[in-house]
Amino acid sequence: MGLRLKYNIVLLLTCVLGIAAASAISYFIVQKSAVNDIRQSISLIRANANAIRSYTLNSVGPLLNDDSDILFLPETVTAFATHTVFANFHEQFPEFGYKEAVLDPTNPADRPDKLEASLIEQLRGDASLKEVASVVEKDGARFLTVAFPITITQEGCLHCHSTPEAAPPAMVDLYGTKNGFNWQLGETVGAQVISAPMSIVDERAKETVIILIAGLALVFVFVFIMTNLMLGRIVLRPVRRMSDMAEKVSMGDFSTPEYSKPGKDEISSLSASFNRVRRSLERAMSMIDV
Ligand code: HEC
Repeated sequence: MGLRLKYNIVLLLTCVLGIAAASAISYFIVQKSAVNDIRQSISLIRANANAIRSYTLNSVGPLLNDDSDILFLPETVTAFATHTVFANFHEQFPEFGYKEAVLDPTNPADRPDKLEASLIEQLRGDASLKEVASVVEKDGARFLTVAFPITITQEGCLHCHSTPEAAPPAMVDLYGTKNGFNWQLGETVGAQVISAPMSIVDERAKETVIILIAGLALVFVFVFIMTNLMLGRIVLRPVRRMSDMAEKVSMGDFSTPEYSKPGKDEISSLSASFNRVRRSLERAMSMIDV
């Protein structure tokens, strides 16, 4: 195997390993930063939902309190307000999801699915948890789903969620006596479940890796061409000339001209040493001839 081939094999291996390592590291870093971005969007959605909740609770609800025996307007309920607003939001951003899932909900639409139920159980099991997250796959796309606990911290909630007798009659007429009752103060009854698409993460990570591989491959091609040119000019060509000359001299042919590589590198000093050996040999041979 020639020197050039050996050198190029080592160069190629180093390059492939280098590109693979750099791609893996950058994929990991980009994915991490994109997940942070997704978490930020989820925090924004939650802050919006909470703002709607507090507006409904403090500004809309009190307006209708007096008529609650004969008239119940779901529009004055925080959960109704948030899911109506998010239904509109969902039309523009169908890939994002918001749900106030409760194990025993007043509105059956708020019943949790399997994943939501398991997230709620985790939150109920450990009161110190501020949130739980899970990555789920739906129709081939990945979603980050984060659940934040809904805990009953105010007595006022129990006015409608303790027993049907305590709840406003007009509300019971509308929602029935079966669901959404027996909630306890301090109990985590459900969770705000918010999900956002991970496709942004996957696409961004893929894009970065492709750009990185293309950039590194370009650098490699440049290094390959330059080092091969240098190798030929500085090492291979002079060594080949010296070995041709040594071949002829070893056959007793001293007619080939001496080769002296200009410069001060190792190959130049080898060519000078070789010329000296050749002259000594020539002198010795001529003495034998005499
Ligand atoms: C005036 C009665 C009333 C009060 C007070 C009330 N809720 Fe509700 N709540 C309802 C009704 C009615 C629904 C169903 C709304 C719908 O149709 O989406 C509901 C729904 C919910 C939901 C969604 C899950 C479900 O049961 O469908 C949550 C969560 C919730 N309430 C939490 C609370 C909390 C926390 C408080 C106290 C801050 C509270 N509620 C106070 C009447 C009330």
